[in-house]
Amino acid sequence: MRIDIITVLPELLESPLNHSILKRAQEKRLAEIHIHNLRDFSEDRHRRVDDYQFSKGAGMVMAVQPIEKAIETLRKERDYDEIIFTTPDGKLYDQKEANTLSLKKNIIILCGHYKGIDQRVRDLFITKEISIGDYVLTGGELAAAVIADSVVRLIPGVLSDETSALTDSFQDNLLSPPVYTRPAEYRGLKVPEILLSGNDKLIDEWKHNQSVERTKKLRPDLYKKYLGEK
Ligand code: 6GU
Repeated sequence: MRIDIITVLPELLESPLNHSILKRAQEKRLAEIHIHNLRDFSEDRHRRVDDYQFSKGAGMVMAVQPIEKAIETLRKERDYDEIIFTTPDGKLYDQKEANTLSLKKNIIILCGHYKGIDQRVRDLFITKEISIGDYVLTGGELAAAVIADSVVRLIPGVLSDETSALTDSFQDNLLSPPVYTRPAEYRGLKVPEILLSGNDKLIDEWKHNQSVERTKKLRPDLYKKYLGEK
């Protein structure tokens, strides 16, 4: 899988995408993530990518020209399955969308910024608009990093234990059960007896029950979905 990210702040993305599991995924050639500086595609002599907005609204707007050139430059090399725009008014991102995206071959993520983007970019190029939650970020870069991270970890072979992505919280609308490591007792708090029992069948049952109970208590909205899809 290949992800191309177009941004005015490449520095903001370099670090989160080039460490740990995402770094290893790229070293193993399971994923390619390319970050492009939008300014490199500006035909303005000051490399500007934004302009004043028509009408009296406050704030700058990202112009069509540099974005079109960036997208067209990439499209000349390969076909893209999705051109995603990160924006607080997009569709709320969830595990189901991550699963869908992880099956694609080539995607572009265009990071929103400033007060907004010329609507014609959205009309002409964008195939999917994504928000990562009901709060406002200074730009779409952190959202793009969230999307790339959640998608790449689902690619077969990226996680050392392939089954671990299948047992994630949210894959079946259930939260994960609690986990413990040594010592067996800490400040008087004991690891549940059953986990020390060695009885795998009973342990699995216990974990499942814990998942259901936690979901019911902490995320009644998810619990409803779980009951609906069971
Ligand atoms: Cl994708 N962008 C911005 N600027 N804010 C957000 C967001 C995206 N998702 C949630 N808040």
